[in-house]
Amino acid sequence: MSSATATTPLLAIDDLAVHFSSGGGFLSAPKQTVYAVDGVSFSLAAGETLGLVGESGCGKSTLGRAILRLIEPTRGAIRFEGQDITRFSQSELRPLRRRMQIVFQDPYGSLNPRMTVRAAIGEAMRVHGLVKGPTQEQERVAALLARVGLREDAMSRYPHEFSGGQRQRIGIARALAVEPRFIVADEPVSALDVSIQAQIVNLLLDLQDELGLSYLFVAHDLKVVELMSHRIAVMYLGRIVELLPRQDLAARARHPYTLALQSAVPEVDPKKRKKRILLAGDVPSPIAPPPGCAFHPRCPIAEKGLCDRERPVLRELGPRHQIACHLAEKVAPGGAEHASD
Ligand SMILES: Nc1ncnc2c1ncn2[C@@H]1O[C@H](COP(=O)(O)OP(=O)(O)OP(=O)(O)O)[C@@H](O)[C@H]1O
Ligand SMILES: [Mg+2]
Repeated sequence: MSSATATTPLLAIDDLAVHFSSGGGFLSAPKQTVYAVDGVSFSLAAGETLGLVGESGCGKSTLGRAILRLIEPTRGAIRFEGQDITRFSQSELRPLRRRMQIVFQDPYGSLNPRMTVRAAIGEAMRVHGLVKGPTQEQERVAALLARVGLREDAMSRYPHEFSGGQRQRIGIARALAVEPRFIVADEPVSALDVSIQAQIVNLLLDLQDELGLSYLFVAHDLKVVELMSHRIAVMYLGRIVELLPRQDLAARARHPYTLALQSAVPEVDPKKRKKRILLAGDVPSPIAPPPGCAFHPRCPIAEKGLCDRERPVLRELGPRHQIACHLAEKVAPGGAEHASD
């Protein structure tokens, strides 16, 4: 058992898909399928952070929510702590809800405006039977608030009385109240000022060190994802197109989409600055994804007859490096050919 536990990832996702149907009502447009997430596989170790990056609408939030079974997957499997939870009923999921939590971009939306911080955090503990009586609850809430860097007097206040950064600390405290092992952090710093972003990123990193938490850290900003993650998954139109260790991103990334995202990151050091790769057009609709490689209409190196016809599968390119691109071997790693001018 112990050797199996050592090698079993905390979380393993296999070919996960979420298709929504939209329209099809009386007088509305014909029924269409939105391929929001379309065949995603990865695993996550205890204490590891996988950063998930990609443009708006590529399916990051849908993926995060489907993993937590807050949205029903259309296809695929989710294994958590060695159990296949894909078809778990709500009552079977109940004990697991404690161990898998979510932190949102805007905690304001998820905090009840009429509940004090004390009540909101205490409620989460009570629902899961983690406290015996009000005195213990009070103590635990106070300890949690201290842990996330808020003063004890925050307890009796309401969400609207706090700044964005403080509210995010409350959101984190509430997620931690039930002692989770895995947290989906869905753009937790995207709405915050840069200086506040760094504080929240550091808080999440400290908590991971202390508690051995695993994160799926979602963001559209590659720089923030790099700060937080052990490995980085780049998503495009419902699929992972490249997955690699954080330290390999700068020099080894090869997917033309990853290189375009990288080239858009402002770089102070002119020697490290990459030529900006401008992508033609917008992200296509997940209602009618382009045939072949979904990225081909915007790809600077797409080949006719191949990329517009055959869908590339995610394959091993190097150690712990996966890519979904027919032409990966032809691309200079890290976009090196663009680095000079
Ligand atoms: N309930 C739903 N019904 C129909 N379509 C949906 C639903 N939820 C999401 N979508 C669509 O699925 C796609 C993926 O959405 P999702 O919110 O997961 O993207 P995202 O990567 O999180 O974007 P953002 O960066 O803007 O948060 C989008 O095209 C979105 O419009
Ligand atoms: Mg989102």
